[in-house]
Amino acid sequence: MGFMAWISSFISSQWNRLLLLSSAAFGDTAFWAYPQSTIDHSHFNFKEFLTHPAHLWSVNTTISFPGSPGFDDATARWTIFSPPTYNAAIRPGSEADIARVIKLASLYKFPFLTRGAGHGYSIALSDFQNGLALDLSQWKSLEIDQTAETVTIGPGVTISEVFDPLYEAGFQIRKSNVHETLKLNDLADNSWCSTESGTCGCPSLVGVTLGGGAGRYQGIHGLVIDALVSVRMVTAAGDLIEVSKESYPDLFWAIRGAGANFGVITSATYKVNRLVNQGNFLHADFYFSAEKSYDYFKIIEKLNYKFPANIATIVLINYNASTKSIQVGGNWVYFGPEKEGMKALQPVFDLGPISSVVSVVPYKKLLATTGGGYDTLVCQGHTNRDLYSLNQKTYSASGWQKGFDKMAKFFEEYPGGRNSALVFEVFPNQATLAVASDETAYPWREARGYIIGHFIWADGDTATATASNKVGLELRDELLLTSGYNEVSVFVNYARGDEGLESIYGRDKLPRLVELKKTWDPNNIFAYNNYPLPLEYPSKQRDEL
Ligand SMILES: Cc1cc2nc3c(=O)[nH]c(=O)nc-3n(C[C@H](O)[C@H](O)[C@H](O)COP(=O)(O)OP(=O)(O)OC[C@H]3O[C@@H](n4cnc5c(N)ncnc54)[C@H](O)[C@@H]3O)c2cc1C
Ligand SMILES: *[C@@H]1O[C@H](CO)[C@@H](O)[C@H](O)[C@H]1NC(C)=O
Ligand SMILES: *[C@@H]1O[C@H](CO)[C@@H](O)[C@H](O)[C@H]1NC(C)=O
Repeated sequence: MGFMAWISSFISSQWNRLLLLSSAAFGDTAFWAYPQSTIDHSHFNFKEFLTHPAHLWSVNTTISFPGSPGFDDATARWTIFSPPTYNAAIRPGSEADIARVIKLASLYKFPFLTRGAGHGYSIALSDFQNGLALDLSQWKSLEIDQTAETVTIGPGVTISEVFDPLYEAGFQIRKSNVHETLKLNDLADNSWCSTESGTCGCPSLVGVTLGGGAGRYQGIHGLVIDALVSVRMVTAAGDLIEVSKESYPDLFWAIRGAGANFGVITSATYKVNRLVNQGNFLHADFYFSAEKSYDYFKIIEKLNYKFPANIATIVLINYNASTKSIQVGGNWVYFGPEKEGMKALQPVFDLGPISSVVSVVPYKKLLATTGGGYDTLVCQGHTNRDLYSLNQKTYSASGWQKGFDKMAKFFEEYPGGRNSALVFEVFPNQATLAVASDETAYPWREARGYIIGHFIWADGDTATATASNKVGLELRDELLLTSGYNEVSVFVNYARGDEGLESIYGRDKLPRLVELKKTWDPNNIFAYNNYPLPLEYPSKQRDEL
C-alpha cells in the first residue's frame, strides 16, 4: 500500500484535504490555493486532527487533551473566573510549528489562544471556548548580549526568571524595574506582592510587555515597552518576521500596547543597563489601623503637587485575619540614598503606623535572600478572581476613603470575600511621559498609577461572587469621579474586558490600530485576547445608530 493510500484509509474523509496540503510544503503558495474549510469548531475533533501523522510536528512538540498528561499544565489559569476553555493544547517545539498551527487554524477555522503564563484576567478571554491552547510557557530561553547590552527572552519566561540572570551578568533592565521591585518585596518579611504593581513574579514578561508593561519605576525608567528593542513574531499569514523600529515600524508601534492582536511573539529583546553602584533602594512597609486611613490618604494626596520620579507607593486596603479588621497597608520604594528616603517618609512615620518594616536593599544582598512567601500568595493560581481597574491621574483622599468604606462594609457582610483587596498604585510618570505619545500604541502615558479592586472568593460561594461583582462595579463608577479622568480608562493588561474599546485602547489610537489590524490580520486569526481589536472602526453598529 502506498503512503497516500495508507493515509486515506486511516483518516476520515474530512481530513483528506489536510493530508494533501500537508504533503505539500508549508509556505508554498499552493497551500493557500485550496478553498477554506467550513468545519464548525464546536464539533471540531482536535484529537483526530492534531495527532494525525501527516502534520509532521517537530520532535519536541507535545499535544494534549482534557484528561491526558500535561493538559492541565498547558492550560492552567491564574483566575478561573470567566476563563477561556480548551479542548486541546499544543506545546510547539519550534517556530515552524507555531506557524503551522496558525496556518491550520486559519484554514480550518478553529479557535486558538496563545498562552504565555496564563495570567490574563480579562473576562473577554471567556469568549474563547473549547479551543486550542498554543502554550508557550515552556519557551524559557534567556540570552544576554554583553556587547549590545540587551537581553532576549522567550515568551514563557516569567518576570521572576529574568532578574537573577541579569543581575549575575551585571545588568538591570533599563526601563522597567518590574523584576527589581519584585526582589525588593521578596526581601521584606512584612511585605506583599501587589497583583498589578510589577511586583509579582508570575506573569510572563512578554505578556506584560504586549499591553505596555506598567511598574513602580515608570517615573525613572518608563514602561516595559520603552525598553523593547525588537521581537520575533509569527504573523497571521504564518510568516516569521523581526519587528523593530527599522523593520516593520508600523507593526512595532502597534505591538507596543496592543501586541496580542497582531501575531505570536516567539522572542523579545530588551535594552538593559549595567548596574550602577549596586543600586541601593530603600524599601518600607507600613500598616495603619482603620481610623488612620483618611489621614494616611491625605499624605499621599500631596503627591499630586510634587511627585519625585524616584519614589513609588502602593496602598493596600485589605482584611487582617489576626486582628479581624480592615487595615491600610503602605508599601514604599525609594530609589536613592537611605537618608533622603527616610526624610521623604517622615510624614508616614509621624502618623504612627501599627507596624513598619524598613530595609535598605543593595542588589548584592538580594541574591542571597530567599522570598518571603508573599509572591506565592498573590501568584496563587486556579483561584476565583475578578478585578475592576482604572487608570488614575490624581490622588483623592476623600475618593479613596469612600472606597475604603465600601470595602469595610463588604468585608463585614461577606466573610467569604475577606481575601479581596482594594489597591491604589501610586507611580510617578516622568520617564513615561518623556516618550512621545505617538511613539507607541500605548495610550495612557499621563496616568500616574492605577486603581484595582481585586475580588477573591471560594469555589461555589455564589453569594460572595455576586456581591463582589456589585461592589466592583460600584467602586469603578465611584472612584472614576476622583481619578482625574472624565471617562473610564484602563490599559489592556489591567482591563476587565467590559470597559469598551475606547476606554482600553484610547480614541486617538484606534483608527491606526484598526487599520493595522486589517492589514496584518485581515481574517481575524488573533481574535481572542485580553481585549481584541475589531476589524472596523468606528464599528458598523455605531454608524447605524
Ligand atoms: C500577579 C499578576 C501581576 C501582574 N503584574 C503586572 C505588571 O507589573 N505590569 C503590567 O503591565 N501588567 C501586570 N499584570 C497584568 C499582565 O500584564 C497581564 O495579565 C498579561 O496579559 C499576562 O500575560 P501572561 O502571558 O501571563 O498571560 P496569558 O493569559 O497567557 O496571556 C495574556 C494575553 O496575552 C497574549 N499573549 C501572551 N503571550 C503571547 C505571545 N508570546 N504572543 C502573542 N500573544 C501573547 C495571550 O494570547 C492573551 O491574550 C499582572 C497580572 C497578574 C495576574
Ligand atoms: C528538543 O529538545 C531537546 C531537549 O530540550 C533539545 O536538546 C533538542 O535540541 C530539541 N530538538 C529540536 C529539534 O528542537
Ligand atoms: C495584621 O495586623 C497585625 C497588627 O497590626 C500586623 O502585625 C500584621 O502584620 C498584620 N498581618 C497582615 C497579614 O497584614
